[in-house]
Amino acid sequence: MELKIFKNIDEASLFAAEKVAAVVKKRPDAVLGLATGSSPIKMYAYLIDWYKRGLLDFSRVRSINLDEYIGLDGDHAQSYRYFMDEYLFKHINIDPQNTFLPNGVAPDLEDECNRYDMLWDTLGGTDIQVLGIGPNGHIGFNEPGQILRVGTHIEHLTANTMNANSRFFESVDEVPSRAITMGMGEIMRSKEVIVLAFGKVKAPVISAFANDDVTTAIPVTLIKLHPNATLIVDEEAASEL
Ligand code: F6R
Repeated sequence: MELKIFKNIDEASLFAAEKVAAVVKKRPDAVLGLATGSSPIKMYAYLIDWYKRGLLDFSRVRSINLDEYIGLDGDHAQSYRYFMDEYLFKHINIDPQNTFLPNGVAPDLEDECNRYDMLWDTLGGTDIQVLGIGPNGHIGFNEPGQILRVGTHIEHLTANTMNANSRFFESVDEVPSRAITMGMGEIMRSKEVIVLAFGKVKAPVISAFANDDVTTAIPVTLIKLHPNATLIVDEEAASEL
């Protein structure tokens, strides 16, 4: 795994956006594995800018997101579908029919997980997977624990994650306690992985990259085993390395 440390979020996001753009330029119908949260916002802004300047074309691109809260439909301002529309999809020429997220209000959630696994396979997997990291080391919503799941599944969010994500809600009581998330298998089978982590709050979890260990207690450490992964951090996130 390659580690790239940048002076600030802007420079790091530019590097990350260049990685995604390179994939789209090489394969116009690329499958992008996308994430929500604060970490990729600036990266998406670069991609939007390049599209608007005629440098990137998303007309044939497909995208599949990591996760969605259970109980929030796409119109809910805190749903990940809403986030993706707001921060990326509605600003570029991607076909909305080619943008996929789990359905957090599906009548049968187990069926929805199976459907999502099959969808990932039908798309042929992801050419690049974008990841942020929870302060507890989660990726997607694969939370720390004794085991990690391979396929798409329902995850009960930890108190740590609910607290971290409560900044987007009126209060922690409004944060859904469950989510549908891609499993570690899909993340690890992406052809390329980029992991973004910025700010002091991520420094303790990034310190886990100072050694050679992997552990299910810090799910992002499994990315050390991926053959084509880059960890992209700013100086603050790298300050405990
Ligand atoms: C989002 C996701 C999460 C976030 C992580 C970091 O789709 O899967 O794993 O990437 O919680 O969130 P931020 O970037 O807000 O710190």
